[in-house]
Parts: sequence; C-alpha cells; structure tokens
Amino acid sequence: MSRTFDVGIESLAHQPVEAQHHDAPSPAAEPIRSASPPVVNGKSFYIETFGCQMNVHDSEKVAGVLLARGYRAAANPAQADLMLYNTCSIREKAAQKVFSRLGEWRGETQKIIGVLGCVAQQEGEEIFERAPWVSLVCGSASYRKLPDLVAELESGGRRVMALDLDTDETFETEITRRDNPIRAYITIIEGCDYACAYCVVPHTRGPERSRASDSVIAEARRLAEAGYTEIQLLGQTVNSYRDPSPRSLNFVELLQAVAAVPGIRRVRFTTSHPNDFHREIVDAIDATPAVCDHVHLPVQSGSTRILRAMRRTYTRDEYLEKISWIRGAKRAISITSDVIVGFPGETDEDFADTVSLLDAVGYDGVFSFIYSPRPNTSAASMPGAIPEGEKSRRLAFLQERQRQIQIARNAALVGGEFEVLVDARHAARGQWAGRTTSNRMVNFVSPRENLLGEYLQVRVTRAGPNSLVGEHVD
Ligand code: 5AD
Ligand code: SF4
Repeated sequence: MSRTFDVGIESLAHQPVEAQHHDAPSPAAEPIRSASPPVVNGKSFYIETFGCQMNVHDSEKVAGVLLARGYRAAANPAQADLMLYNTCSIREKAAQKVFSRLGEWRGETQKIIGVLGCVAQQEGEEIFERAPWVSLVCGSASYRKLPDLVAELESGGRRVMALDLDTDETFETEITRRDNPIRAYITIIEGCDYACAYCVVPHTRGPERSRASDSVIAEARRLAEAGYTEIQLLGQTVNSYRDPSPRSLNFVELLQAVAAVPGIRRVRFTTSHPNDFHREIVDAIDATPAVCDHVHLPVQSGSTRILRAMRRTYTRDEYLEKISWIRGAKRAISITSDVIVGFPGETDEDFADTVSLLDAVGYDGVFSFIYSPRPNTSAASMPGAIPEGEKSRRLAFLQERQRQIQIARNAALVGGEFEVLVDARHAARGQWAGRTTSNRMVNFVSPRENLLGEYLQVRVTRAGPNSLVGEHVD
C-alpha cells in the first residue's frame, strides 16, 4: 500500500503543504488499518473538500473507508472512477460553488459522481433533480452508512441516498486516511444542539453526539505511535463535550488525557462555544504544557442586542468576562474569533459595538463574514435585511480595523524567540514555515535541511498582519 501523501483529496480549507510529497521518515502517515488486506477492485476515487476542518477530517475518514474497500486514490478528478464532493453550505456562496462544480460533469456516464456533507443533507433528493448525473447523496450525519451505499452502487444500484439525522451515533473508523502528516485531527463531538438563528449546522449535521473518551484516547495513542506529535480535537462546539461512557470525562479531563499521551507535544481544540467556555479550560492550558496557548472563541457580534437576536446565549459583557480569564492566565494565550456583519436589524450602533469589541479584546485573528440567509434557519425570515452594499462596507471597515490590530500585536513579537513546529517548505523562497503553539505562522530561514515535523527555536525578525518572519536559532 502506498504511503505517500499525494492522496486524491483536495481541500479549499487548508493550504496543501509541501510536506505531503516529502519523503520524511517522521512524522509518518498513519498506517491504514483494516482487519484483512483490502481486495484491489481496480477502481479509484477523488474527493474535493469544501469548508471547515470537520469536513476536511470527514474526507480523511471517507478516504479510509474507500481505501479499505480496495479503491485507489486517483491523482486527479479526470482519472477517478468515483468523484466525491464533500460540501459546505454555511454560506450561500459555498453551496453555489458545489453546483457549479457538479455542472462540469453534465451528462457524465463513465464516472460515479457523489455529493457528501452539508449540501447533500440540505438539498437531498433535489440534487438528483438539478444534476441527474449524480448517483450518490450522503449527509454528514449518515457517513456510517457510506460503506453500504458504496456496496449498493458496486452491485449496480443507480441512485443511493442517506440523510438520517436522528442518529445518536458518531462516525468512527479505524481506517482514517490522514492527509496532513504534521497535524492529526480527531473528532470528539459531532452535530450541534445550539440553535443560532443564522446557522444551518444543526440542520445539516444533526444533534450533538459525543464520542466515548476511551475511543478518543486510543486514537490519540495510535497517532502518537504512528509518529504524530500534534493533535487537534474537533467539534462544532468542541467544549460542549460530554463523555457518553461510564468514565464520564468532561472536556477539560479529556483534553488533559490526550495531552498526557506519550509522544504528543501539542494539543489544539476547535471550535469553542462561549457558553461552555469555563475558567477550568484556562486553568488546564496553564497547567498543561502540551495544551497549546490558543483559543478560538467565536463572538459573532459585539452587540448584546444582536447576540440575543442571533440566539447566542451570552451577552457582550459575559463574553468579555471570559476573555478576561484568558488574559489573566500565566501563559500568553492567543485569541481568535469569528464575526458576522450585516445580521438582520444590525444598526450602525450595533456594528460600532462589534468594532469596539475587536479593540477591547485585541484578537490575534478574526474570520469575518457577511451574513448570508440560509434555508431552514430562523434568521432567514427576520425583517430588517441590510443592503448588500452596506454589508460589504461594514466588512471592509471591520477587516481593516482588525488588520491594524494584528499589525500592532505581531510587531510586539519581533525580537522574541518561539518554538515552531515545521510544517512546510517554500523551496522557491528558500524558506521553511511552521506554527508557534499560539498558532502564528512563521516563515524562516535555516542552514539545516529536512526540517519537516521538527520543533525548532525561531527568532522573529519581522512581522506582518498575518504572519511572522524569522531565523532558526540553535
Ligand atoms: N452567514 C454568514 N456567516 C455565517 N457563519 C455561520 N453561518 C453564517 C451565515 N448564515 C459563520 C459564523 C461561524 C462560521 C463558521 O461561519 O461566524 O462561526
Ligand atoms: Fe452553528 Fe451556533 Fe451550532 Fe456554532 S453553535 S454550529 S454557530 S448553531
């Protein structure tokens, strides 16, 4: 079985790193595990992934399932017998992109075209209507059915679909085909029980389901044995984790248990919901060196009035109190966030509250979005839509303000030395790239070679809004 990293998974969510083609002995790709060697069926697959890290990781699991069934990874879509799109519907543009991709296969008869993920769940049978050349539709809450669906297609089935949402199971597999050789994702909780007024996720990913802690810890051990040193725990609301097993670990206990796995040097977690963000998480970061000093805590709006309309379950002041716990930690913890501008009814004052919140927190990074009305969400029928031009103006204003904040925060790091986990090589620039524990990207030069997967000390010599530049110091 091939152990190179050029598996047929393409993602729009993360930069492909050169490490994927590098012949580094460590960290290693996770071995494919299956009870018996897969039967080679001569068919190949290609997965294109849109959206969040959860989707990226779901594609890794789907790839594992297909490899175990004897499929090969195709080098490109044209060569694949099975072309899968793992889709995102969080904003309208993402969903449109999927249909434009599907349009490229109009009339295709040689390949099996499949749609997975959030658009599959949202549109269901409608996909067969809009793109009759699609023969597989499977929502993310139904992935455990995927092997059966593929089997049905293999035995001549023309159209297969799975859209169950009322499942209390998670999609667990021991045959995940990890695409990133440096950072390994582990899903600890799927779905979401919140009901934010703008968000399709509870509809597309179903109710919250946590995974048993023993299973998570066993996976972390396997990853460490395979050579990984960094693990990222994933969930739409990762810190709402509740162990369904008799051990009944809470999120902090699970975080610490994963951090205690021999060989694991960094543990990250995303995304945290402010409502379930307790002081114990900050204490755990302080007390546990392997837990990275970064918290992604989406605020969405700085206006309590809008937060209420969004059903975010916290006020501006309550959010800021949580930020004060993080700022009070012994370690300098970086904080990033998600913000939506132009939610229905957002006034100039509400928007000004969001801008002032950026100043008050001093975020190290913000993903900001124009509000996009989504089907099956309560906000879609709210009055007070903000004109598109005004939404764009607010977004540009907010992004410029945040850019200035990042320039100032990063400039304060010049001259400092930080431990960097090397994850890419920019050959043309003669630079390496890696991340600090606070998740800042650092591009740096080094006289040494073969640095992928290594932990190095790097002195920062320059800073931009989105990354740092430095040099390797021994
Ligand atoms: N419109 C714009 N942004 C949205 N997000 C979620 N739903 C919408 C929507 N309807 C953003 C939120 C969330 C991030 C993943 O996407 O900020 O945290
Ligand atoms: Fe969507 Fe809110 Fe759930 Fe996050 S917490 S996934 S924004 S509904």
